[in-house]
Amino acid sequence: MQKVSADLTRAGKSIGFVPTMGYLHEGHERLLQVARKENDYVILSIYVNPLQFGEHEDLEHYPRNIDHDLSVAKRNDIDYIFLPENKTMYPTPLSIEMVVSKRANVLCGRSRPGHFEGVVTILTKLFNICRPTKAYFGQKDAQQVAVVDALIQDFNFPVQLVSVPTVREKDGLAKSSRNINLSPQERSEAPAIQRALQKGKTLMQTDNPDIPEVIQETRQFLERETRGKIDYIELLSYPDLEPIETFDRQVILAVAVYYESARLIDNTVFRPGDMS
Ligand code: PAF
Repeated sequence: MQKVSADLTRAGKSIGFVPTMGYLHEGHERLLQVARKENDYVILSIYVNPLQFGEHEDLEHYPRNIDHDLSVAKRNDIDYIFLPENKTMYPTPLSIEMVVSKRANVLCGRSRPGHFEGVVTILTKLFNICRPTKAYFGQKDAQQVAVVDALIQDFNFPVQLVSVPTVREKDGLAKSSRNINLSPQERSEAPAIQRALQKGKTLMQTDNPDIPEVIQETRQFLERETRGKIDYIELLSYPDLEPIETFDRQVILAVAVYYESARLIDNTVFRPGDMS
């Protein structure tokens, strides 16, 4: 793979790169389509990275369907699929470990210690192997986008980060590989997550919105509409992911909800003054 991408780079070709953990859904497909439009070549990687899963997380249950993934790649005219095995990516224990010191200890990072360390480690390897001109990520994982943005800036990767808007089901639920693990009852309740975010965003339109109140009302709405257990509801600056006191910058309102066999996340990023 590294030789292929080096040859393409030498030939002056642009490379669009879509890193995934497989079980591709329409959200991934959108990333592939945008990448296809913007680049000479597109590389899709499929690798369930054990390093970004915590001890009690769903590595074993992470859904896989490689035949389906290959057909998605085919219908989107993808040039290369990089499908490494664990022994290729981690042949020996790492001698150097990366630590994510900002943008990580909030939102998902708080309840998933080590997760973003695993993400930046695998992306460092994948960027060096696939040499992308542009790398594509879904805005659903807004914290991941913020951390990758920091990775690219801090380590001078010659890669342009492209964040692609979240693709949703008709009822508003963000597409996710984990939706398949919801019971029918949970699936019917889960669109409340998106509605709660819209409610929170609307509350921010009032004069002098009060942050604890916005969060409290979003929480109460969610508790009324679903039995899922709220992991967090947070309102932070974006992409810095710092607490905010004034509404003079772009913010993120982000939610995570635990269901029996899936933890769902969603968010909305906006400027409080500009509610379009
Ligand atoms: O978003 C994902 O699927 C993963 O975190 C990524 C970026 C492929 C790294 O393993």
